Amino acid sequence: MTKQEKYKELLPQVVAIIEGETNAVSVMANVTAALHESMGWWWTGFYTVNGEQLELGPFQGPVACYRIKRGRGVCGTAWELNETVIVPDVEQFPGHIACSSLSRSEIVVPMHNKEGDVVAVLDIDSKDLNTFDETDKIYLEILVKNISQALKW
Ligand code: SME
Repeated sequence: MTKQEKYKELLPQVVAIIEGETNAVSVMANVTAALHESMGWWWTGFYTVNGEQLELGPFQGPVACYRIKRGRGVCGTAWELNETVIVPDVEQFPGHIACSSLSRSEIVVPMHNKEGDVVAVLDIDSKDLNTFDETDKIYLEILVKNISQALKW
Protein backbone atom coordinates (compact mmCIF):
# COMPACT_ATOMS: atom_id res chain seq x y z
CA MET A 1 0.00 0.00 0.00
CA THR A 2 1.38 3.45 -0.84
CA LYS A 3 1.61 6.12 1.81
CA GLN A 4 -1.22 8.02 0.12
CA GLU A 5 -3.44 4.94 0.19
CA LYS A 6 -2.67 4.42 3.87
CA TYR A 7 -3.67 8.00 4.67
CA LYS A 8 -6.85 7.71 2.58
CA GLU A 9 -7.81 4.67 4.63
CA LEU A 10 -6.77 6.25 7.91
CA LEU A 11 -8.48 9.64 7.61
CA PRO A 12 -12.10 8.39 7.76
CA GLN A 13 -11.11 6.14 10.67
CA VAL A 14 -9.72 9.10 12.58
CA VAL A 15 -12.81 11.18 11.79
CA ALA A 16 -14.96 8.35 13.15
CA ILE A 17 -12.82 8.07 16.29
CA ILE A 18 -13.09 11.76 17.17
CA GLU A 19 -16.76 12.18 16.30
CA GLY A 20 -18.93 13.16 19.26
CA GLU A 21 -16.09 13.30 21.79
CA THR A 22 -15.17 16.70 23.23
CA ASN A 23 -12.51 15.81 25.81
CA ALA A 24 -9.30 17.01 24.15
CA VAL A 25 -6.98 14.65 26.03
CA SER A 26 -9.16 11.64 25.18
CA VAL A 27 -9.33 12.61 21.52
CA MET A 28 -5.58 13.25 21.24
CA ALA A 29 -4.88 9.95 23.02
CA ASN A 30 -6.98 7.91 20.63
CA VAL A 31 -5.69 9.76 17.56
CA THR A 32 -2.08 9.06 18.53
CA ALA A 33 -2.95 5.40 19.05
CA ALA A 34 -4.66 5.12 15.65
CA LEU A 35 -1.85 6.93 13.81
CA HIS A 36 0.97 5.15 15.58
CA GLU A 37 -0.48 1.67 15.16
CA SER A 38 -1.28 2.01 11.49
CA MET A 39 1.75 3.96 10.30
CA GLY A 40 4.51 2.25 12.30
CA TRP A 41 6.26 5.44 13.40
CA TRP A 42 8.72 5.66 16.29
CA TRP A 43 7.00 8.41 18.27
CA THR A 44 3.60 10.02 17.65
CA GLY A 45 2.18 12.65 19.93
CA PHE A 46 0.91 16.10 20.76
CA TYR A 47 2.38 19.07 22.57
CA THR A 48 -0.05 21.78 23.67
CA VAL A 49 0.69 25.49 24.01
CA ASN A 50 0.69 26.93 27.52
CA GLY A 51 1.96 30.51 27.61
CA GLU A 52 5.41 30.65 26.03
CA GLN A 53 6.02 26.91 26.04
CA LEU A 54 4.75 23.63 24.67
CA GLU A 55 3.76 20.94 27.15
CA LEU A 56 3.76 17.22 26.50
CA GLY A 57 0.35 15.81 25.68
CA PRO A 58 -0.91 12.32 24.79
CA PHE A 59 1.59 10.26 22.82
CA GLN A 60 2.67 6.77 21.82
CA GLY A 61 6.32 5.74 21.92
CA PRO A 62 9.25 6.26 24.25
CA VAL A 63 9.28 8.76 27.12
CA ALA A 64 9.64 12.37 25.90
CA CYS A 65 10.60 15.77 27.26
CA TYR A 66 7.87 17.66 29.11
CA ARG A 67 8.40 21.22 27.93
CA ILE A 68 9.70 22.96 24.81
CA LYS A 69 10.15 26.73 24.57
CA ARG A 70 8.78 28.69 21.63
CA GLY A 71 11.38 28.71 18.84
CA ARG A 72 13.29 25.75 20.30
CA GLY A 73 13.68 22.38 18.60
CA VAL A 74 11.58 21.28 15.68
CA CYS A 75 8.35 21.63 17.67
CA GLY A 76 9.06 25.14 18.91
CA THR A 77 10.17 26.15 15.41
CA ALA A 78 6.97 24.88 13.79
CA TRP A 79 5.03 26.85 16.40
CA GLU A 80 7.04 30.05 15.88
CA LEU A 81 6.96 29.83 12.06
CA ASN A 82 3.32 28.73 12.20
CA GLU A 83 3.94 26.14 9.53
CA THR A 84 4.61 22.44 9.13
CA VAL A 85 8.30 21.61 9.46
CA ILE A 86 9.73 18.50 7.79
CA VAL A 87 13.18 17.40 8.94
CA PRO A 88 14.73 14.69 6.70
CA ASP A 89 17.73 14.24 9.02
CA VAL A 90 17.46 15.49 12.60
CA GLU A 91 21.26 15.73 12.92
CA GLN A 92 21.18 18.45 10.29
CA PHE A 93 18.56 20.51 12.14
CA PRO A 94 20.22 23.07 14.42
CA GLY A 95 18.69 22.90 17.89
CA HIS A 96 16.87 19.62 17.38
CA ILE A 97 15.81 18.26 20.78
CA ALA A 98 16.71 14.57 20.95
CA CYS A 99 14.14 12.95 23.24
CA SER A 100 15.20 9.61 21.77
CA SER A 101 18.61 8.98 20.28
CA LEU A 102 16.98 6.63 17.77
CA SER A 103 14.94 9.38 16.08
CA ARG A 104 16.32 10.13 12.63
CA SER A 105 13.66 12.20 10.87
CA GLU A 106 10.66 14.19 12.02
CA ILE A 107 7.56 16.17 11.02
CA VAL A 108 5.76 18.73 13.17
CA VAL A 109 2.33 20.08 12.21
CA PRO A 110 0.86 23.10 14.02
CA MET A 111 -2.79 23.07 15.13
CA HIS A 112 -4.91 26.20 15.37
CA ASN A 113 -7.89 27.62 17.20
CA LYS A 114 -10.67 29.56 15.45
CA GLU A 115 -8.64 32.77 15.76
CA GLY A 116 -5.76 31.15 13.88
CA ASP A 117 -3.41 30.97 16.88
CA VAL A 118 -1.25 27.87 17.26
CA VAL A 119 -2.66 25.94 20.25
CA ALA A 120 -0.86 22.60 19.83
CA VAL A 121 1.45 20.69 17.53
CA LEU A 122 1.38 17.13 16.25
CA ASP A 123 4.91 15.73 16.38
CA ILE A 124 5.94 12.51 14.64
CA ASP A 125 9.38 10.89 14.72
CA SER A 126 10.79 8.09 12.60
CA LYS A 127 13.77 5.80 13.14
CA ASP A 128 14.60 6.15 9.44
CA LEU A 129 15.99 9.11 7.54
CA ASN A 130 13.77 10.95 5.01
CA THR A 131 10.49 9.44 6.21
CA PHE A 132 8.28 12.50 5.78
CA ASP A 133 7.39 14.44 2.66
CA GLU A 134 4.70 16.59 1.06
CA THR A 135 2.19 13.71 1.19
CA ASP A 136 2.48 13.51 4.98
CA LYS A 137 2.18 17.29 5.23
CA ILE A 138 -1.01 17.35 3.14
CA TYR A 139 -2.79 14.56 4.99
CA LEU A 140 -1.62 15.44 8.48
CA GLU A 141 -2.70 19.06 8.00
CA ILE A 142 -6.18 17.83 7.01
CA LEU A 143 -6.17 15.50 9.99
CA VAL A 144 -5.29 18.16 12.57
CA LYS A 145 -7.87 20.53 11.08
CA ASN A 146 -10.51 17.87 11.69
CA ILE A 147 -9.38 17.53 15.29
CA SER A 148 -9.38 21.29 15.97
CA GLN A 149 -12.87 21.59 14.50
CA ALA A 150 -14.21 18.59 16.41
CA LEU A 151 -12.83 20.00 19.66
CA LYS A 152 -14.19 23.48 18.81
CA TRP A 153 -10.74 24.99 19.48
N1 SME B 1 12.46 16.38 18.56
C1 SME B 1 11.51 17.34 19.07
C2 SME B 1 11.27 17.15 20.55
C3 SME B 1 10.13 16.26 20.87
S1 SME B 1 10.46 14.63 20.66
O1 SME B 1 10.81 14.37 19.25
C4 SME B 1 9.19 13.68 21.09
C5 SME B 1 12.01 18.74 18.79
O2 SME B 1 13.14 18.93 18.37
O3 SME B 1 11.23 19.66 19.00
